[in-house]
Amino acid sequence: KKGSYDHFMQKEIHEQPHSLTTTMRGRLKDGGVLLGGLKEHLKTIRRCRRVVFIGCGTSYNAALAARPFVEELTGIPVTMEVASDLLDRQGPIYREDTAVFVSQSGETADTLLALDYALENGALCVGITNTVGSTLSRKTHCGVHINAGCEIGVASTKAYTSQIVAMAMMALAIGSDQISTQARRNAIISGLTSLPSCVSGVLKLDAEMKELASSLIDSESLLVFGRGYNYATALEGALKVKEVALMHSEGMLAGEMKHGPLALVDENLPIIVIATRDACFSKQQSVIQQLLSRKGRLVVMCSKGDASAVCPNGSCRVIEVPGVADCLQPVINIIPLQLLAYHLTVLRGFDVDQPRNLAKSVTTQ
Ligand code: UD1
Ligand code: BG6
Ligand code: NA
Repeated sequence: KKGSYDHFMQKEIHEQPHSLTTTMRGRLKDGGVLLGGLKEHLKTIRRCRRVVFIGCGTSYNAALAARPFVEELTGIPVTMEVASDLLDRQGPIYREDTAVFVSQSGETADTLLALDYALENGALCVGITNTVGSTLSRKTHCGVHINAGCEIGVASTKAYTSQIVAMAMMALAIGSDQISTQARRNAIISGLTSLPSCVSGVLKLDAEMKELASSLIDSESLLVFGRGYNYATALEGALKVKEVALMHSEGMLAGEMKHGPLALVDENLPIIVIATRDACFSKQQSVIQQLLSRKGRLVVMCSKGDASAVCPNGSCRVIEVPGVADCLQPVINIIPLQLLAYHLTVLRGFDVDQPRNLAKSVTTQ
């Protein structure tokens, strides 16, 4: 079933042009979006007071990647909840809320308990899941199957990108009654259409990421700085590295750098900075300058052709990625980090598909 690949994680990373195609199949129509699972509920969702995203692990990170464009296209405030933390706090959930549960398996215990809690509190409950017939799919009022195909590697890869795309289509569908954002929606829809070929393009960085991995093999730690649309990319990239390569790694909000993380910077600690083109680009350029002035060991991810704009005197390593619509860029940017985590794991001699102490689906609290 792995075909020509050595591991399921590797196969699942490389099949993303296809999995993203199946996520969108039949759902982008006449310049608009048709999600059969949501269409009866769009009016209710448009009237809600807030959207609350709830999930664990990679699925939480996917929701975090979706947050900016859901806010932008719908105008509805979005809050984020790690499922276990919502339960620990017994945080307020209201009838006027739309609670969106994100889970690849649809069987994660914390997420399902948070779903029971939101149902008791009267919220409209929406599922985003890869598993038809799962408990999440059955118990939610409505939702979207991401149709990424079965994911076997414990570290989620193709489900992450398909979750983001499913939520992009959800945001487009909710916002489809707004005239003021029509042009923006059209640009995102054309971005979605070009995404599979863009993903094929970024997968060509495989050998480059293997080489980067070999330079990081003995590092104790790896930081990843992102912001805006790519804050989630930083968290998810770091999660991949820690869960499979068993290396300490933290994703950080670049805007918080001066409030603590800067103290860690020296010539040894490797730091990845995500600085692809969007409204935060110039802020990331100044973050890079500040890190370089403290002799930081930097790897900068930037848009194609921007190497000298992010790293004027060639003092850092650069990963150039193809550009898509800014809000979809997280789908592209995570892929070099998935490849990096994969190669780092193989080079360090750890089990790629079955990382130490972890399970694909955590069905107990
Ligand atoms: C559905 C069919 C698909 C068919 C298409 C044709 C299923 C599972 N899907 O896809 O095979 O090709 O029509 O028009 O038969 N749901 C939840 N919670 C979730 C996810 C989904 O309640 O977490 C519900 C939806 O609200 C919907 C149903 O499950 O009622 C199917 O969802 P989905 O597969 O996303 O719908 P379609 O894309 O319309
Ligand atoms: C487990 C997995 O912790 O559950 C993670 O090891 C996953 O990879 C998390 O992200 C959430 O799983 P699900 O199925 O709810 O998306
Ligand atoms: Na359901």
